[in-house]
Amino acid sequence: MENQSEEVPLGQVKVGVTFNLKHAEKTSETTPDAQAEYDSMETVLAIASAIRSHGHQTVLLEADQTLPQRLLSEKPDLVFNIAEGYGGRAREAQAPALLNLFEIPFTGSDATTLCLSLDKALTKRVLSTYRIPTPRFRLFSPGAPVRIGGLRFPVIVKPNAEGSSKGIADVCIANDAKTLKELVQKNFSLYGGDVLAEEFLSGREFTVGILGNGETLRVFPPMEIVYHHSPIAGYNVYNYTVKQEYEKFVSYHCPAEIPAAMEQELIRLSKTIFLALGCHDFARIDFRADKAGKLYFIEINPLPGLAPHYSDYPMLAEFCGMPHGELVYAVLRAGAERAGVRL
Ligand SMILES: Nc1ncnc2c1ncn2[C@@H]1O[C@H](COP(=O)(O)OP(=O)(O)OP(=O)(O)O)[C@@H](O)[C@H]1O
Ligand SMILES: [Mg+2]
Repeated sequence: MENQSEEVPLGQVKVGVTFNLKHAEKTSETTPDAQAEYDSMETVLAIASAIRSHGHQTVLLEADQTLPQRLLSEKPDLVFNIAEGYGGRAREAQAPALLNLFEIPFTGSDATTLCLSLDKALTKRVLSTYRIPTPRFRLFSPGAPVRIGGLRFPVIVKPNAEGSSKGIADVCIANDAKTLKELVQKNFSLYGGDVLAEEFLSGREFTVGILGNGETLRVFPPMEIVYHHSPIAGYNVYNYTVKQEYEKFVSYHCPAEIPAAMEQELIRLSKTIFLALGCHDFARIDFRADKAGKLYFIEINPLPGLAPHYSDYPMLAEFCGMPHGELVYAVLRAGAERAGVRL
């Protein structure tokens, strides 16, 4: 890859950036969102440039099957990890687990936290032991009967272990048992793996960014996703279509215009969730309210997208006066401090 060895020789610390790039669409791909979780070279270069602007050396490391060899030969002092990995529920753990193997410190959460958080149902189960409210759900495995059980319609149907709104298509809401079955089957065939059906909450939607650890943990003011019009008749869902054409469907309000008590509650819940799941350095957490305004946890992204001018996490940081480069460096600093690496 053309930029793979781009380095500045006089840096103080050699920082690797691990990532998985979006590649040209393969003809075998069955959905338009197949590459959604991967990053563009523009994002990787923006991260590397932010790190180099502080005088460090960077080395770009694509987290594919060449990663072990490249880690051995490049021996970075520290890695800024945004690799999503390939295949299966443990894919986000691949780069962190390898970095542990080679004893190279890295930014962000570890393999266990990334695996757990990618599994939405498992995360909800863990968080309910901390009394974090989360919508009621059922999890369906391929081959098992699809029954609504005690859930109330409408429900939203989504793959249990995908992100970037993968599988949250323009048809993802079921109001009856027949549609539920059809949507679950569609998800099985398109994405494989378990499928989650969750009671749909029709209230306001928020996302909260967290930066740092321990004493220096910072929770950014919540950002509200305000819908201009519904992408799905009658239902506001921040799905793949909306994210692609966000200017048409939504506007972002940060800080969200909410009562102080609601803001405090979002911040309290976010901190509890971040600590309960053992997150490190940064994360973004999605919440939704019910009609009465009660807040519920939807999901956490301990590896939030960092695409400049697109991803929600850098967007909300920017609303708070922290530009992309500064945010990247703050994440790096948080990881370096944990690992005892002097920047
Ligand atoms: N139970 C629910 N009730 C109402 N809306 C929901 C619910 N679950 C998901 N949504 C809607 O669908 C969107 C995407 O869902 P979710 O955050 O679970 O998916 P994701 O693909 O992991 O997202 P991301 O792009 O943040 O990784 C939410 O932002 C929200 O608009
Ligand atoms: Mg989300």
